[in-house]
Amino acid sequence: MLTVNELKNIKGKVVIVRVDFNVPLKDGKVRDDNRVRAALPTIKKLLEEGAKVVLLSHLGKVKHKEAPEVVEAQKAKNNMAIVAPCLAELLGKPVAFSAATRGEEFEKAVAALKDGDVLLVQNTRYEKGEEKNDPELAAAWAKVADAYVMDAFGSAHRAHASTYGIPEILKGEGKQVACGYLVEKEIANLMRCVDVKPADRPYVAILGGLKVSDKIKVIDSLLKKCDKVIIGGAMAYTFKKALGFEVGNSPCELDQLDYARKCLKEGKGKIVLPVDSVVTDAFEGWTKKEIVKDNVPAGMQGMDIGPETEKLYAEEISKAKMVFWNGPMGVFEQKDFASGTIAICKAVAGLKGAFSVCGGGDSAAAIKEFGYKESFSHVSTGGGASLEMIENDGHLPGVDILK
Ligand code: 3PG
Repeated sequence: MLTVNELKNIKGKVVIVRVDFNVPLKDGKVRDDNRVRAALPTIKKLLEEGAKVVLLSHLGKVKHKEAPEVVEAQKAKNNMAIVAPCLAELLGKPVAFSAATRGEEFEKAVAALKDGDVLLVQNTRYEKGEEKNDPELAAAWAKVADAYVMDAFGSAHRAHASTYGIPEILKGEGKQVACGYLVEKEIANLMRCVDVKPADRPYVAILGGLKVSDKIKVIDSLLKKCDKVIIGGAMAYTFKKALGFEVGNSPCELDQLDYARKCLKEGKGKIVLPVDSVVTDAFEGWTKKEIVKDNVPAGMQGMDIGPETEKLYAEEISKAKMVFWNGPMGVFEQKDFASGTIAICKAVAGLKGAFSVCGGGDSAAAIKEFGYKESFSHVSTGGGASLEMIENDGHLPGVDILK
């Protein structure tokens, strides 16, 4: 796979760069510019080389099967124009914007670029064919490009027109396709969690979040690769129920109990579950909060792991040479239930000489909020993509097509 450093003769050439500018918005502005910052090294390198850079990205969801007024509302909410000023400020130079995603107006905007200019294009998901990898759409984009760089790690698990269709066409035409610096860095770090070296053991995974059913493939894969798999968050209650404990009103997937039992049996002592929980009488507007041991009483629901579990998990993490973490331990957005997630941050921060990866998504938001970002060896920009890398032994369609 070529990297952005290895592209040849790109001065004056149009380079399409697929970035992941799927950023959180608030009041018409970018709320967290982390993903925009993460793409800057690649964009700057290409601009320095005198390329004409055309940036493509999706933003949020646009569900084209909905009624036309719903689709229009989703488009208005996810307008990429909001990101242009943020990018211009971070780059320290003007960023042109194309409201058209293809056709004459889009091609004119590309043709107007001078060497070292940058053009940000409207949300790729305004196009119905983007998520279907429509060949006509991919061809409309590929037509303007002399080369393609994939730097949207967070979208590399999607085989869409902008992540897969364009490089497929350009490769067929003998044009250069490469990965950007962000994708290169993400792959190098996450591959360490996929191809585990003896020196990286004990390898401890920490999984949290709501549903077991969303994480079946990753649990299967981690049970094969890891020495311990620590489970927290709401999904822990499905495992507790499978062991015969009471879970009260905690979220629990009854249709996953057999799967949980299978994991517990085949995991041969690798799975570590909570021994206590912080529980309340309601998710919102609760009036009663207590710490309970293994069983959650009727009418109560788990909101965070309890203090004994924090100690147990910190102890397991302290033995690790490598840690992979995905998913918070509790409802960390509410400060009463953030303690378990903070305890994991602290335990990882206390490791000496170990390699630690946070797999993006909510856990990445949590470590940033609690000030532990620098304590991790790597914080992925892709929640879904980093999980799929673990699940599929390092393969992602948006990266494999570059090879
Ligand atoms: C993400 O936020 O995980 C990526 O940008 C992918 O977004 P998607 O799940 O909407 O494809």
